[in-house]
Amino acid sequence: MNIILLGPPGAGKGTQAHRLVAERGMVQLSTGDMLRAARTSGTEMGKQVAAVMDRGDLVTDEIVIGLIAEQLDSGAGGKGFIFDGFPRTLAQADALGDLLESKGQTLHAVVEMKVNDEALVSRITGRYTCSECDAVYHDVTKKPVKDGECDACGSHDFTRRADDNEESLRTRLMNYYRDTSPLIGYYYAKGQLKRIDGLGEIDEVAARVAGALDE
Ligand code: AP5
Repeated sequence: MNIILLGPPGAGKGTQAHRLVAERGMVQLSTGDMLRAARTSGTEMGKQVAAVMDRGDLVTDEIVIGLIAEQLDSGAGGKGFIFDGFPRTLAQADALGDLLESKGQTLHAVVEMKVNDEALVSRITGRYTCSECDAVYHDVTKKPVKDGECDACGSHDFTRRADDNEESLRTRLMNYYRDTSPLIGYYYAKGQLKRIDGLGEIDEVAARVAGALDE
């Protein structure tokens, strides 16, 4: 089963993708994570995209389509891919369709996670991540069980993303509504869209995602 988690910044795509990886053995393909990894390792492409990402603007279609093509070529994804943060433009959506078709694969569902803008702001400005294993936390809604210690790996080192501030978030939201939200109609017309309410406890949202996939 190959699926897309579609939604604005802070909708909970990464959080729910981690659940699906743990519970269903699927493979998460997050273009945001791939781009951040390229920055950290200091590749030429990583240097090229750093300022664009910090502003909250979109990286070029060519770069992200190339990243996804490499992953599809890698042969991973036995239980299916979760596309998280990709596609984000109509050109990326067309490219994904072509890539999957060239591998004899199909897209089974696109889960749109709906969350209102006020909730997005508080989710994004409260987010922090374990520097060791990338587990995602929140100042209010998802604190580690032991204060200051990652539940997953025990590290005491946490970071906040450079683009998780109100100014970059405004740009990210604008880009979402301008470039990415047309994908809702695109996948609706293809009969692949499933809409779920992304508000509520993380477990409640996970149950809605599971319900949409198992329909
Ligand atoms: P990317 O990393 O994809 O960021 P994003 O789409 O803005 O999404 P986020 O990771 O911010 O949010 P999320 O929906 O995963 O939420 P999360 O689960 O963490 O992209 C970053 C940048 O890379 C882009 O701006 C762009 O520059 C570039 N880029 C990436 N892909 C690209 C592409 N395809 N084309 C062009 N450029 C691209 O949750 C957020 C917080 O809320 C967490 O703290 C979490 O604990 C909390 N939370 C989650 N669920 C709940 C809940 N149900 N209740 C309460 N709190 C919750």
